[in-house]
Amino acid sequence: MRHLLGIEGMTRRELELLLNNAHKCIEVSQRDIKKVPSLRGKTVINLFLEASTRTRTSFEIAGKRLSADTINITASSSSTTKGESLLDTARTLQAMAPDVVVLRHRSSGAPHLLAQHLTKTSVINAGDGMHEHPTQALLDLLTLQEHFGRLPTGLTIAYVGDVRHSRVVRSNVWAHRLFGNHVRFIGPPTLVPTHVGQCFGKPVPIYHNLRQGLAGVDVVGCLRMQLERMDGNFVPSLEEYTNEYQVTGKVLDEVAPQAIVMHPGPINRGIEVQTALIDSERSLVVNQVAYGVAVRMAALLYLALGPKEVEYS
Ligand code: NCD
Repeated sequence: MRHLLGIEGMTRRELELLLNNAHKCIEVSQRDIKKVPSLRGKTVINLFLEASTRTRTSFEIAGKRLSADTINITASSSSTTKGESLLDTARTLQAMAPDVVVLRHRSSGAPHLLAQHLTKTSVINAGDGMHEHPTQALLDLLTLQEHFGRLPTGLTIAYVGDVRHSRVVRSNVWAHRLFGNHVRFIGPPTLVPTHVGQCFGKPVPIYHNLRQGLAGVDVVGCLRMQLERMDGNFVPSLEEYTNEYQVTGKVLDEVAPQAIVMHPGPINRGIEVQTALIDSERSLVVNQVAYGVAVRMAALLYLALGPKEVEYS
């Protein structure tokens, strides 16, 4: 079975195919009647055992726009709250023969475990613990591609904030490496420890000073403080963190006037990023959400129909 578990180990060719197909899917979402029959008769189960607004909604919309039957299971509505193990949930789902299961889980590696035990079903990782979030990296790439009007290569991208707990960053670094982009991390040593920069083969440069780290970058990726994954105090206080590391229009005007700003959401306004900046023309957050649907359509097509180019017009 083909799965989409992480960007690590994928090839640039595979990512380009997904981006090409996602680009074609954008048009479907702009139609009056936003539906194509590509996945008619296919069943997609969205199993979201951790909180989500954007990712869950966009997978559901993506499946529906492709005419798949989509079923949503959330943590509170699933039998895991009654003590059922992930493997038993997997066996139960398998018996109903879905074509794709989309899993979000608080434990790193949960989608891989599911993939090992489902023999006739593809698995998409919609975020596993602090590990990977491949469709987020793909939608970030698609957003850059649509913004610059070309394949996103040769860019310098700074991720600012809670890199340590971010699966979004991990998937993005693998993706940017394949496209020849230069990634840097910015944040306090507690949130950007040296070892995190060394997990990707060639080390990722780390800056503990916001201005120095942002100097000359093309793209700023803001990150939320992921309190739900923290097992201790990583910053003295949010106020102190904000004073040192909040990404503001003023800082960007000084050191990276051309830079555009991205954020995977959910945004904690006024903490990792200034409200006026995230609402400004420099921000691509709305595009990220819109292109998220197209990327998830491409991901579902890739798993349900195989690695081929789609044509919509
Ligand atoms: C991210 C996630 O869940 O990893 N959000 C998302 O999928 N859009 C980032 C976050 O939760 O901060």
